Amino acid sequence: MQKKIVLLGSGELGKEFVIAAQRIGQTVIAVDSYAGAPAMQVADGFEVINMLDGAALDTIVAKHNPDFIVPEIEAIRTERFYDYEKQGIKVVPSAKAANFTMNRKAIRDLAAKDLGLRTANYRYATSGEELAKAVAEVGIPCVVKPLMSSSGKGQSTIKSEEDIEKAWKYAVEGSRGDVVEVIVEAFVKFNSEITLLTVTQNNNPTLFCAPIGHRQERGDYQESWQPANVTDKDIAEAQDMARKVTEALGGAGIFGVEFFLTDEGVYFSELSPRPHDTGMVTLAGTQNFNEFELHLRAILSLPIAEIILEKAGASAVILASENSDNPTFTGVEAIAALPKTDFRLFGKPTSRPYRRMGVALVSDAVGTPIEGIVEKAKAAAALVKIHA
Ligand SMILES: Nc1ncnc2c1ncn2[C@@H]1O[C@H](COP(=O)(O)OP(=O)(O)O)[C@@H](O)[C@H]1O
Ligand SMILES: [Mg+2]
Repeated sequence: MQKKIVLLGSGELGKEFVIAAQRIGQTVIAVDSYAGAPAMQVADGFEVINMLDGAALDTIVAKHNPDFIVPEIEAIRTERFYDYEKQGIKVVPSAKAANFTMNRKAIRDLAAKDLGLRTANYRYATSGEELAKAVAEVGIPCVVKPLMSSSGKGQSTIKSEEDIEKAWKYAVEGSRGDVVEVIVEAFVKFNSEITLLTVTQNNNPTLFCAPIGHRQERGDYQESWQPANVTDKDIAEAQDMARKVTEALGGAGIFGVEFFLTDEGVYFSELSPRPHDTGMVTLAGTQNFNEFELHLRAILSLPIAEIILEKAGASAVILASENSDNPTFTGVEAIAALPKTDFRLFGKPTSRPYRRMGVALVSDAVGTPIEGIVEKAKAAAALVKIHA
């Protein structure tokens, strides 16, 4: 039962995953592009490589010969995963899931065309001229994103025709890898957006967590809360879509499936085949298992009987404002003193403006108005200051 896991990506989500794995005696090698990354601090071993370099990935996979490869981020030479699967290594949740979600085109066409899920109307473009034509077809306002990017990088909203050229240039600059292509999506006037954490299991039914609401700014989430206020009809619709898309991608593990809720129903947006950053709210003890424990159990084929919402909770991010290679914190005693409040400081060795350095976590009894819990989490996060 002791398995060896190579974790590709060693941020705060990876760190919590490693802690969950250590608690039940698993061995984890944490990998990232810099030493001292959060997950490395708690893992059995670590490797520093450029994960977009296929040869470097091959070398560490051969060296450690793991039972599982667990990607924590998208920026990995995921094409190599198909070979690792052939070698008998379990890629989590599957090589297909990692490859389809690292390129917006693959996952969007799967969702909209193959599975018929409701998404924003969309087109692709490989030049400024094609983008102008695509914008004319989907209509203004619309959102332009590089096919390969995350955390809102290279993403902008076109509000008038004058924005088109700027949006093209911005997307090309913010694009990861060598693909120079963008998706342009009609702007969805959503009432709210949610993450539906969906757990697929090897020999047991797919399970859903209570929906998580979140607010985004500059491409990153600022606060998340669970449960989000969602009608039973919208939940059923979202669960149906999440079941279809996770089944098509295959494998066992947790998926963060993102939806927009509108007056016309639920829109599928995108998904992560791994713990989702908005799911850090589960670290507030909102569920019998947090999202990292769920991921681990699903990977190891340990049956998950049920997921129970035990508390209502919220998370609010603690961001740096300056560049530093020795960031220090004040206000930690103040946040620690708050009732029904907890926090994480990720131990990142350096800071830069808007880098996520920690998270405030607040919980209360199920049924407590969620808006108040979110306000408390924001106020708690604001107590912690990061100094260069
Ligand atoms: N078509 C859209 N209409 C309205 N808002 C959008 C649209 N696409 C993205 N957004 C907003 O931008 C955020 C980030 O977009 P997303 O596609 O999830 O990219 P990322 O991979 O960077 O998370 C979303 O959570 C949402 O708030
Ligand atoms: Mg997203």
